[in-house]
Amino acid sequence: MRGVVAMDGPSGTGKSTVSRRLAQACSAAYLDTGAMYRAATLAVLRAGLGEQAPAAELARAATSASIESGTDPAAPTITLDGADVSAEIRGPEVTALVSAVSAVSEVRTELVARQHALIRAAVDGGGGIIVEGRDIGTVVVPDAPLKVYLTASPEVRAARRGRQDAKAGRDSDLHRTLADVERRDRLDSSRRVSPLYAAADALVLDTDLLSADAVLDRLRELVADRG
Ligand code: C5P
Repeated sequence: MRGVVAMDGPSGTGKSTVSRRLAQACSAAYLDTGAMYRAATLAVLRAGLGEQAPAAELARAATSASIESGTDPAAPTITLDGADVSAEIRGPEVTALVSAVSAVSEVRTELVARQHALIRAAVDGGGGIIVEGRDIGTVVVPDAPLKVYLTASPEVRAARRGRQDAKAGRDSDLHRTLADVERRDRLDSSRRVSPLYAAADALVLDTDLLSADAVLDRLRELVADRG
């Protein structure tokens, strides 16, 4: 494939798993924009700031950090100021603050510019790229030839997050995870800048009733048609 596939949806829909596997199956690059917002949030925490800090301070800490995202789907990497932070950005402190940091418009402007550079490099290099996030089909690549919006009920998504946490050795509690999923849905969908919603021309897939394999099969057919 040569173009961009925009994969959006809330957390716990299986978006990352399916996006990575799709990229590998299509020999395409892969960009996890959520990891970039998480790394920016880790920079904010390291600067000693929290939710109560003024937006300008959050923006300064987040945008002055050096964040590098690898786009190899076999080994996605994310570094902050030169060090690998892929495990740290999944921790509870970052998860609790990321929606607040990603609602700051200066943070989005900076990270979207970096995303555009990575997407351009993949497309100019002659390959395609699968880009996952919340605003890819609506804001980052509104002319993507294929846009997919994955959804699932909050309960199913919280259970998936819980299994991922257990696998990664992170403490988790189903009630707390469900509350976090619902809180982030609310914040991500209601923010003023780039809120989470399905683009009018996105294919919406409900993954409550679909396995990752079934979603992947459907996406491979779609990529073969228009990717
Ligand atoms: O995908 P993940 O759950 O890691 O994303 C973490 C958070 O980053 C989301 O809850 C959302 O607040 C933010 N995000 C965003 N725009 C994106 C990707 C993620 O605002 N394109």
